[in-house]
Amino acid sequence: MKKTICLLPGDGIGPEIVAQGVTVLEAVAKKFGHEFDFVPALIGGAAIDATGEPLPAATVEACRKADAVYLGAVGGPKWDGIEPARRPEKGLLGIRKALGLFANLRPALLLPELAGACLLRADIAARGLDLIVVRELTGDIYFGEPRAIEERDGLRVGYNTMIYDENEIRRIAKVAFETARQRRRKVCSVEKSNVLETSRLWKAVVQEVHDADYADVELSHMYVDNAAMQLVRDPSQFDVILTGNIFGDILSDEASVITGSLGMLPSASMGAQAPALFEPIHGSAPDIAGQDKANPLATILSAGMMLRLAFGLSAEADAVENAVRQTLRDGFRTGDIMEDGCTLVGCAEMGRLVAERL
Ligand code: IPM
Ligand code: MG
Repeated sequence: MKKTICLLPGDGIGPEIVAQGVTVLEAVAKKFGHEFDFVPALIGGAAIDATGEPLPAATVEACRKADAVYLGAVGGPKWDGIEPARRPEKGLLGIRKALGLFANLRPALLLPELAGACLLRADIAARGLDLIVVRELTGDIYFGEPRAIEERDGLRVGYNTMIYDENEIRRIAKVAFETARQRRRKVCSVEKSNVLETSRLWKAVVQEVHDADYADVELSHMYVDNAAMQLVRDPSQFDVILTGNIFGDILSDEASVITGSLGMLPSASMGAQAPALFEPIHGSAPDIAGQDKANPLATILSAGMMLRLAFGLSAEADAVENAVRQTLRDGFRTGDIMEDGCTLVGCAEMGRLVAERL
């Protein structure tokens, strides 16, 4: 199989971790007889420095021509002073919108190899943690208009608009139910319908989609504050968490950090058509950038999601996941997941070790 992959390394540790993902993808290509062409493009602070824009038109075009997009991370203190419309984050939000990537899949999984790193009490962790947040990614208060900071009667006010139409809710609900069918067939839809109109519509539409086409999947509804609490109290109750953009942003960080290994968790952002985008869920970690200390495993596992979801290559995806787990079983760790008795390695060495095990 021949595929073009647009690389958006971005900022901070982005270039280092994407380089290791590429090493692993090249090993996959060699082992399974595929050809991957890598086309680099600029995004975030790196793009601001080179062109003045966080998302140059050439980047959007390069992504559109590719079969998949592979992103590192964006942002850093260097660009914190920039006006909001040109911040590095705008590059990320912009590419999601430009490619129509409305469905963000964020699995949070407690690997047995890393059980010691889990932040939860042992008896809670023992019940297991294997869930996926299905987060709507191109709507909600992130993109709603009107939005502004302005002056009213001599007072500065800031406001945003939380808005969803029923089609946006319906299509992400379908993704969640389809995802659940590949897993334990449970969807928990998370909103704040005791307060918000958008959430009342959300809950009603999710229920309609369920009743019409997905009666075989168990559907429950939960308020977001309760969900935040249940995630630490007993995450084993969750299979698929379906939620909107802002709640999903918050809950996916929570779900991932309780596994104890933020540096391990991949994500996929999908639209109605290719290309989809694959990236680690963590950020650009400017404090350790350029020091060969970053954990590349979330990025490498994101390549696994690319192979499975964008290219339909499940044997190859399984091989990547197994190589990662074997590397961990062999005792190799980056600093963020280091445990007694393990061997500390850098970012590049970790990538090489995984590629070697393929
Ligand atoms: C994420 C990030 C982004 C978001 C930021 C960097 C714009 O937090 O991917 O979760 O809020 O979506
Ligand atoms: Mg986030």
